[in-house]
Amino acid sequence: MKKLITFALIALFAATAGAATQTLAQKHAKAGVRGNPTQEQCIACHGGSYEALAKQTANVKPNPHGSHMGPVQCDACHNWKGRSNLMCNDCHSFPKLQQKLRPQPKVIQ
Ligand code: HEC
Ligand code: HEC
Ligand code: HEC
Repeated sequence: MKKLITFALIALFAATAGAATQTLAQKHAKAGVRGNPTQEQCIACHGGSYEALAKQTANVKPNPHGSHMGPVQCDACHNWKGRSNLMCNDCHSFPKLQQKLRPQPKVIQ
């Protein structure tokens, strides 16, 4: 069963990979950032503090980095090696925000 799921995921990934889909890991590798950064390292490069990061996206409504949820773990939304997913949508429906987080073409799901 596990193998089957893995295969299905690989197939899904391959189906979307053609269309300039890049993971955060790949985008960072291009910028010279390798490995699996910890959240502290993410913040160190992106603003220096969660509050500073929230200021960078202050014009985004709703602000994914500054909400009633507080300082949410980066990987609750940004997937390093896979498809990112807006955790806010567990409760809300923010399709535009999801689109910004994951500007890949939609696949059937
Ligand atoms: C060593 C510094 C460094 C670390 C660590 C780092 N980043 Fe980045 N990040 C960058 C650079 C450089 C870019 C590219 C900036 C650009 O192209 O404008 C970038 C780009 C991004 C982007 C924008 C990608 C896009 O589609 O344009 C996101 C989102 C991001 N990083 C999230 C993260 C997260 C989450 C982590 C931790 C898991 C992380 N970064 C760790 C330096 C870093
Ligand atoms: C609740 C989901 C969520 C969480 C948690 C989250 N982000 Fe984001 N992040 C987003 C979304 C959505 C965008 C796209 C915003 C836009 O450009 O409109 C984004 C954009 C970014 C960008 C690009 C900013 C820019 O100016 O274009 C960086 C860098 C980034 N996030 C880093 C991080 C880091 C580092 C963490 C953890 C400390 C984090 N994010 C946590 C949802 C999230
Ligand atoms: C566990 C469920 C849950 C999650 C996850 C969640 N929210 Fe909410 N959110 C709520 C509830 C409940 C309310 C209050 C609804 C009301 O009073 O109408 C709310 C209200 C809001 C509001 C309305 C403005 C306000 O402050 O009253 C915004 C904007 C919002 N959430 C943004 C976000 C963002 C951005 C995220 C992701 C970082 C997020 N939410 C994640 C449950 C959630």
